[in-house]
Amino acid sequence: MQLSNHNVLITGGASGIGWALAQGFLKRGNQVIIVGRNQAKLDAAQAAFPNLITYRCDLQDPAAVEALSVQLINGHPDLNVLINNAGVQYAYQLLDEPHAVARIAQEVRINLGAPLQLTALLLPHLAQHEEAAVVNVTSALGVVPKSSVPVYSPTKAALRSFTQTLRIQLAATSVRVFELIPPFVDTDLTAGREGDKVAPEVVAEAFFEGFANDKVEIRVGKVKLLLGLHRWLPAMARQIIEKKP
Ligand SMILES: NC(=O)c1ccc[n+]([C@@H]2O[C@H](COP(=O)([O-])OP(=O)(O)OC[C@H]3O[C@@H](n4cnc5c(N)ncnc54)[C@H](OP(=O)(O)O)[C@@H]3O)[C@@H](O)[C@H]2O)c1
Repeated sequence: MQLSNHNVLITGGASGIGWALAQGFLKRGNQVIIVGRNQAKLDAAQAAFPNLITYRCDLQDPAAVEALSVQLINGHPDLNVLINNAGVQYAYQLLDEPHAVARIAQEVRINLGAPLQLTALLLPHLAQHEEAAVVNVTSALGVVPKSSVPVYSPTKAALRSFTQTLRIQLAATSVRVFELIPPFVDTDLTAGREGDKVAPEVVAEAFFEGFANDKVEIRVGKVKLLLGLHRWLPAMARQIIEKKP
């Protein structure tokens, strides 16, 4: 993929990994649209980069996602790259969580339902372009699940599986399908947890290198080692993940 002249939509683009990706695309000469819930964060991002386009949308709401996709298709005919980055991670013990059913629904919707819905709605539009991409941000926990985040891990496993099937379905089209697998990153999502975190910019740089080289599965930093280990010694990989904060 070229690194410039795209029109890129990034969900969760006002903070963390999404914001690092947004700045990276802007600096490389792309038009960038970010989506988030928090208007103050969207405004701050827009103030830093006046060319940036922002949309407020709660991805938890299917009707809002549908309305957003109509606005995007009508308002941004050049849109050719979709980055499904927004996500949440809830840590709880199912047995002790009084609102488990509601929390499950929320996490499954944001991490899985919304990216699938947005992909399905935007795909016909993306496929009209000579060069297009869908990028799904998953996690090593989608391969090696962690017991403290019992729903996050399966949502990422399912998003990874969807990414792989979509890649095959779209092989004969102009749409390339990427999976970005970050390591432990210093963002709001990991706030308050100790450990060897990398900066979101490190993830963004690894992404741009992979994107430029059409590397469809972009494993960043220690993810390479962990997934390699998981292939041959899955029990050891699970032990390592369980010990992480
Ligand atoms: N941090 C890590 O160690 C790590 C590792 C592997 C994978 N990842 C993945 O990387 C992605 C980005 O996470 P991050 O670490 O950068 O965390 P983050 O800073 O908390 O960013 C998450 C983003 O998702 C958006 N978001 C969440 N719920 C939303 C909703 N209902 N509607 C609209 N936007 C919503 C947030 O926007 P608002 O603030 O406006 O709600 C925020 O911008 C996630 O998919 C995460 O699973 C992270």
